Amino acid sequence: MDRIKIIGGSKLIGSIPISGAKNAALPLMIASLLSEGTLTLKNIPHLADITLLSRILGDLGANITIDGRGSQGVDDEISGVTMHINVPKISNFFAKYELVSKMRAGFWVIGPLLARTGRAKVSLPGGCAIGTRPVDLHLKALQELGADIKLEDGYVNAAAPNGLKGARIKFPKVSVGATHNILMASTLASGQTIIENAAKEPEVVDLVRCLRAMGANIEGEGTSVINIEGVTQLNSAEHTVLPDRIEAGTYAMAVAMTGGSLTLMNVNGKNLQYPLNIMKAMGVECLEHSNNLHITQSNNNLKPIDIETNPYPGFPTDLQAQIMAMMTQADGLSRIRETIFENRFMHVQELARLGADITLDGDMAIIKGVTKLQGAQVMATDLRASVSLVIAALAAKGETIVNRVYHLDRGFEDIEKKLSRCGAIIERLTD
Ligand code: UD1
Repeated sequence: MDRIKIIGGSKLIGSIPISGAKNAALPLMIASLLSEGTLTLKNIPHLADITLLSRILGDLGANITIDGRGSQGVDDEISGVTMHINVPKISNFFAKYELVSKMRAGFWVIGPLLARTGRAKVSLPGGCAIGTRPVDLHLKALQELGADIKLEDGYVNAAAPNGLKGARIKFPKVSVGATHNILMASTLASGQTIIENAAKEPEVVDLVRCLRAMGANIEGEGTSVINIEGVTQLNSAEHTVLPDRIEAGTYAMAVAMTGGSLTLMNVNGKNLQYPLNIMKAMGVECLEHSNNLHITQSNNNLKPIDIETNPYPGFPTDLQAQIMAMMTQADGLSRIRETIFENRFMHVQELARLGADITLDGDMAIIKGVTKLQGAQVMATDLRASVSLVIAALAAKGETIVNRVYHLDRGFEDIEKKLSRCGAIIERLTD
């Protein structure tokens, strides 16, 4: 199993091209199930989750071709690919446990499958171990669209023989995945669907833009009420995946810890406003210039701060582990309240192995800084947690080995390459 070795202590200086967003690319790929036409997606990142989803879609009847890397012209070695997905016919409405259990987003095929064929049998999902992560909101909303849902042997068996019918759906809590799923399903439902308390995440907006390019009739994306007027079919379209705000935020926090100066290329700073404001309040210089973000940390003097995670436009839970690592270098007590996932503090004990002083109290983490981090063997427990260990290791003295790197490969494209070209001493060890 691959490991990553990091010798900490180098400042990060240079530029990093930011990849297409994993959390947008996954639902966009799934949207291809809704149409007989070809969906062309540019700026798809090279990640294990993308490969896995390609297998899930392939099982359902998708033909996928890839044009090769460098299609964005940012940096031939490390920029996204163009993917063409064509699903002339759904050959199978069964998404099996072996694949869906490895990635939660695989479950989202259920909405498009039901919308296009009236049938779907999809394994209950897996993904990062960051809480119970139920799918009740997805299932209730699909029932409201007229689907008959049965849970059998770990599978959701769903049927809508007469097609889905538009409905008014009010989510009791904000869910990114349920918003994606119901958005996709309702594009082909008859009549009007209104989603209330919809997720406002930029990845939802990106999905709507793509669905609209395919011929869907949708309004209100980026607000909490989305209106969908069903159409009878969707067509071929081309769409470019938006930049990964979580990847950009992660590298911004890395340089805030190590000191130095990074230019993050191909970023939409608007989508990172909240975390950037927090970083500025902590004393980091963050400047936006067209599609670039310049992050400079020159004085090694971070201020502590209190934050809580919230749905967009609040502080993203997917940057919580990374800012926690950063807070270990702030001078005083910082606090994080995690409000989205109840078990998303598994990085705490691993950060402690590097010398962090963090106390947990229910949904609150209290981080005491400044601590001098010291390299150690650590274990990645989930995707964002593992990258928090990488950025902490970059600021630690001596050698760190991050085990279970497969989590990182699910969500961070070419991380060793991107960091080492900015001066980090980081290499992958393959056994
Ligand atoms: C997506 C992101 C993930 C991010 C999360 C929150 C992808 C591939 N994943 O995950 O990186 O951390 O949004 O921004 O885009 N919930 C229920 N019932 C449901 C669905 C969700 O109770 O049916 C709860 C969850 O347990 C959680 C909260 O709602 O407490 C938010 O989860 P949700 O937004 O659905 O997360 P995901 O879409 O799984």
